[in-house]
This record gives sequence, C-alpha cells and structure tokens, in this order.
Amino acid sequence: MTVIRTMALMDGQPEARVDAQPGASVTAGPAATSRSRFVRAARGEAVDRAPVWFMRQAGRSLPEYRALRAGTAMLDACRDPDLVTEITLQPVRRHAVDAAILFSDIVVPLVAAGVDIEIVPGVGPVVAKPVRTLADVEAIKAITCADVEFVATAVGQLVAELGATPLIGFAGAPFTLASYLIEGGPSREHALTKAMMHGEPELWRRLLARLATITAEFLRTQIAAGASAVQLFDSWAGALSAADYENHVLPHSRSVFDALGEGTVPKIHFGVGTGEFLHLMRAAGADVVGVDWRVPLSEAAHRMGPGAIVQGNLDPALLLAPWPVIEDEVRRILADGRRAVAEFGAAAHIFNLGHGVLPDTDPEVLSRVVELVHASQQ
Ligand code: CP3
Repeated sequence: MTVIRTMALMDGQPEARVDAQPGASVTAGPAATSRSRFVRAARGEAVDRAPVWFMRQAGRSLPEYRALRAGTAMLDACRDPDLVTEITLQPVRRHAVDAAILFSDIVVPLVAAGVDIEIVPGVGPVVAKPVRTLADVEAIKAITCADVEFVATAVGQLVAELGATPLIGFAGAPFTLASYLIEGGPSREHALTKAMMHGEPELWRRLLARLATITAEFLRTQIAAGASAVQLFDSWAGALSAADYENHVLPHSRSVFDALGEGTVPKIHFGVGTGEFLHLMRAAGADVVGVDWRVPLSEAAHRMGPGAIVQGNLDPALLLAPWPVIEDEVRRILADGRRAVAEFGAAAHIFNLGHGVLPDTDPEVLSRVVELVHASQQ
C-alpha cells in the first residue's frame, strides 16, 4: 500500500503558515510543530484561538477508513506502518484538525508483551486467559522499543508527512489496561478488578507496576520517533472513588509520566467520569487534563487550581443532534474555556470531545465543528 503524499494539503492549513515564519524550523517532529497552536496551548502558552482535535477522529465515522480497513483485523492494521500512516492522516485531511492522533490501540503494547488478546468488532478487547495469579503477571513480559518497532516506523513516516501539524502519541494507563486483563474484556462494574485491588494488594501492585513499565516504553518509543505530545488514556478510572484512585492507581500513572522525564513533550491525561479527582489526574504529572461532558470546563479548572490546561468537553452523543444544537454547544464550551482561563486561572483550553467520536457520527458535522472553533477568537 502506498501512502498518499499530503504536503499540498498541509499547505492549506493555518499551522503551516505559522511555521513558515522566518526562523521557524523546517525539520519534522517536535521542532517543526513547536509553534503550532496545539503544542503552544498544551504548554500553557497564550494562543489566538483554541486548537481542536477529536479523540477517535480516525476510525469508523469515516467511510474512507471503513474502506481501507475492510478485510484487515484491527490489530493487524495497527501493526502495518503504511496503513497506520494513511488512517492517521485521513481525518487530518478531511477535517483540518490542529493535531493528528496516532492510529493504534491501547492493547497494542500488551500484544507485544505476549498477552493473547483480540479486538472483537462491536465488543472491544477480549483476553484469552484473564490475569488471576502472580504467574499470570510474570508472564506479561516487559517490552523494549524493538517489540513495537512498527509503531516507531509509523510515527517516523507520519511526522514527515504532517510537517507543521503535531502528532499525538498515546497509550492506555495501567488501571484501564488492568481492567481488560482482569475482567477478560469490557466491563461495566469492574468488579473483579476492584476485588483484586482490595483483596490482593500485592498482586495488584505488581500487575500495575508491570503495566506502567510497558506503557512508559510504548510512549517513549513514540516520543523518540517524533511524536509532539502524548495522551495517557485512563478511560475507565471513573469507576473508582477518589481515595481508591489516589491509593491504588495514581502512583502507577505517575510512574509512567515520571519515566518520560522532565522537559519532554506535553503530557495529556484523560479519563471518563473522573470529575471527582481531576486534581489527582493533574498531580500524577500531566500538563493537560481531559475533561468529559459531566463537569463544565470552568468548574474543572476551579477544581484543579491555577495553571491547569483543560481539554474537552463536547458530549460526543450531541454530534448526532441537529446542527443548531451542536453550534450552541460548541459556542458554550468555547466561552466556558475562556472563563476557565479568565476566572479560574487555567493556562489554556484545547477543544475536544468529552470522549471518542461515535461510529454513527456524520463526518461533515465534525468538519463543521472544526470550522466553527477555528472561526472563534479567544
Ligand atoms: O483516532 C484516535 O483517537 C486514535 C485511535 C484509537 C483507537 N483506540 C482506534 C480504535 C485510540 C486512541 C484508541 C484507544 C482505546 N482503545 C481506548 C481508550 C480511548 C477510549 O475510547 O476510551 C480504549 C478503551 C480502547 C479499547 C477498544 N478498542 C475499544 C473499546 C474498541 C471498540 C470496539 C468496538 O468495535 O466497538 C476498540 C477498537 C478500536 N480502536 C477501533 C478503533 C478505530 C474500532 C475497530 C474497528 O474499526 O473495527
């Protein structure tokens, strides 16, 4: 499969013009994207308008994605650098978002670590032999960058293609990965997970510590290959109380962020239903905290304290409503983001959804949301 060259497209993007200023770097990766609105906002610098990208912008909402994926299993697609490159670029071309997010999945490093796991369409990740014992934990091997070389190759190709548009790398946080491994698949209650957390704290600690080293290596690989930012997805952490999060999860997520080092690319931390402990997610070592639709951005900024950078928080379900509803909601969120900065000391707002794009979303609507965000000044 050949990757379609996209530089002509990138020329049309505002970010490309930002970088074309005298003295701007022309190299790929973080040097080329350091003046982009997304990276500047993610560092807490003032920007003229909120940058916008969408979680799950690559994927089933796009007919061109469905056509390309036909006949290829999800995890095989994730291991094919040319497919990853093309799928990652599709939403950037179509929507002119301010950042790309690597097409991959949170379970990709687990496969590299030797876990027998499938992504079942319409279900999600399913694990053949759920983790129950210390032997199960020790069978999950610590990965090196060589085990996920296909990701480094894809990231390298992408930063060359993307020019001044930043690429966001990502990984699943230890808790969310542990939930899949312990439950054996998606779970509403996370009951077995919580039972292990409290009933077998040493086993729990060892499992999360192992997952933290795998996640950190996966993120370091993406950063070394040129990703301009990374997002740690702790999608299911909202199932926990703040106390459980603080005692049993936060130390492991912190060790992931710590392993990336000071002075690295901006770090984003995201969870769903985590309004009760947004301040802890920030304290784990994040520069930017993703907020779902349950908590207004200004309230999130208030809870996290001065200097927070908020990302979010349009309810993805609302994208299925008529356009006037969506338009009002986008404007409200932009105004609330400005309020987060002006009244609650937030450093910046990055526009996003409160969770991923739903497969039934009309891609035209996503493009219109980007246009609307782009048209509004700070
Ligand atoms: O555009 C992007 O955001 C990048 C792509 C991305 C995928 N998965 C692609 C994908 C990202 C960031 C993820 C992360 C991910 N994967 C998370 C955390 C983010 C979140 O949504 O909370 C989680 C929990 C997973 C696990 C997972 N993988 C689920 C729940 C599913 C959906 C299963 C289904 O069919 O309903 C997947 C599969 C998956 N990951 C798809 C995509 C595009 C769909 C696969 C397909 O096209 O058949």
